[in-house]
Amino acid sequence: MRIVSGIQPTGNLHLGNYLGAIRNWVRMQDEVAQAGGQSLYFLADLHALSQPHVPAELTANTREMAAAVIACGIDPEKSILFNQAQVPAHAELQWLLNGTARLGWLNRMTQFKDKAGKNRDSVSAALYTYPVLQAADVLLYQATHVPVGEDQKQHLELARDIAQKFNNDFGDGEEIFTLPEPIIPQGAARIMSLRDGNAKMSKSDASDMSRINLSDDADTIMAKIRKAKTDPEPLPHDAEGLEGRAEAANLVGIYAAMAGESIAHVLARFAGQGFGAFKPALGELLVARLAPISARFNALRHDHATLDSILGQGAEKARRLAAPTLDRAYRALGLLR
Ligand code: TYM
Repeated sequence: MRIVSGIQPTGNLHLGNYLGAIRNWVRMQDEVAQAGGQSLYFLADLHALSQPHVPAELTANTREMAAAVIACGIDPEKSILFNQAQVPAHAELQWLLNGTARLGWLNRMTQFKDKAGKNRDSVSAALYTYPVLQAADVLLYQATHVPVGEDQKQHLELARDIAQKFNNDFGDGEEIFTLPEPIIPQGAARIMSLRDGNAKMSKSDASDMSRINLSDDADTIMAKIRKAKTDPEPLPHDAEGLEGRAEAANLVGIYAAMAGESIAHVLARFAGQGFGAFKPALGELLVARLAPISARFNALRHDHATLDSILGQGAEKARRLAAPTLDRAYRALGLLR
């Protein structure tokens, strides 16, 4: 088993990232280490170039995101943790795969459509070719499993399509790239905004009230949950009663994911009660579970020397692991090396 996944170092790590992806990174890091496999996790700083950005902020956010994933439980002794920019093989393999990816495939990517909106002519070329870089990220290491939230599923399917076509066209009967499987958590695949139950919780939402950041203090978390959008109905007796109640479903889902309980279990406790009772309980649960993470994060976030050394060492290991596959891809394409 080889696990690979990434996160963009733009803004704060939020509850959606944590429940949708990072918690699985941590879980899988231990499973894989026990089974003698390897896990690689990276800050996708090259992906961050796809949107307008301020260079100094990207540097700061890359270090902060490294501190955040370590605070969540990623152990650089067990996993290889690095930032993409220190492993040039990602960008090189993207170019090699650009010859295989079809325009029609990229045209179907819903994330591009969402992010570009009506402004297609003025977004960067990187926003469009971004999924090919994401394919390179995982194929480079022969990833078998990729823990992500639901919103990355389509990008992973594209990575499989690219791998399959490359193997067919250039493999000469051999598998040059492994086809990766997404690992998407049941129940936390899509954590929604606290202000709109139909929009995903996201770093790019203009309102900070829409998300819980892992760096938020207890008062901020309680205030955000208190002000979260809800409806006037009491909580229902079963999950079916949450249908058509996007905000209520989201808050109950967050409670269940955070407590490690089923929706039915949570509803059995809160059925018939209003949000006046449920919200403080949810806020307290979040504060209790996130407090140790935010304490570790605050202790590490300003220690640039330690963070840079962890990322540097991780990148060195990643470069070594990437080299044989990259070399094979060059040769398969007939490029003289
Ligand atoms: P990014 O940085 O947007 O998000 C990081 C991870 O968090 C998950 N996630 C969510 N899960 C549930 N609910 C939400 N509201 C939510 N918001 C975010 C994402 O699904 C993701 O797993 N393109 C990727 C980064 C990337 C990558 C890769 C991932 C680059 N290369 C290779 C896997 C493999 C991204 O922008 O994720």
